[in-house]
Amino acid sequence: MIEVDVALVPAAVPVRDPDILVVVDQIRASTTLTTLLDLGAPDVLITGSLDEARRLGRSTGRLLIGERRALRPRGFAFDNSPAMLERAGVRGRSAILSTTNGTAILRMVRRSPRVLIGCLRNARACAEAAIELAEADGTGIRVVCAGLKRRFAAEDAVAAGLIVARIVEIAGRRGAETSISDAARAAHRLYASYPTMLAALEDSSGGLTLHRIGQAEDIAYCAAVDTSDAVPVLRDGSPLRIERLGLPPR
Ligand code: MLT
Repeated sequence: MIEVDVALVPAAVPVRDPDILVVVDQIRASTTLTTLLDLGAPDVLITGSLDEARRLGRSTGRLLIGERRALRPRGFAFDNSPAMLERAGVRGRSAILSTTNGTAILRMVRRSPRVLIGCLRNARACAEAAIELAEADGTGIRVVCAGLKRRFAAEDAVAAGLIVARIVEIAGRRGAETSISDAARAAHRLYASYPTMLAALEDSSGGLTLHRIGQAEDIAYCAAVDTSDAVPVLRDGSPLRIERLGLPPR
């Protein structure tokens, strides 16, 4: 039996959670990380401080990507914009990412043994990986919404709901039973209430922000479902590092 939960806000995540965590910052850190791995980045360093990001950028030659109040910080090469990164064709470059909510939640869960990063684009791949790890470790799966300033963000809950749907579907096909918490059921209901994921993201505070800053192309980009096989995984250290999960062959 795999227990599946959704932490709708960061405060709902236990300290050093032993479960398999899937962190979702749908607009846009999770989507940016998935895109960077799709573009062949060997890894991505995560920093909370802009000064540290700039210092690391100078000493390593890595690409600096990030936002503060959704805008590109001084001296950074790119916004936290996955559509922009794809359009620029930044292939195979190691990067440094510093964002507001996405970075904060990754720092918060850094001591948990298994932390994956999920979004709509890699929902299926992420669900498959989470099930494999949960079965191997004998744990549950908790999808963690990054939220907005530690509060509920609809775009994260919708993406979490799709990941729950994929987990139930894939586990069922494998003959594994799942038990869904009320929060996971609520996220799934929210996801299922929208005709399309584009409509869901347009209806969220993150979507409104992207309109406000003139980066609405990221809404459509982030709304694509199951287009990526990349599953980013968090490696604790100083700084935190993200790389592509390689599962052992079954
Ligand atoms: C964050 O980490 O706070 C977000 O990804 C912000 C953004 O949309 O750029």
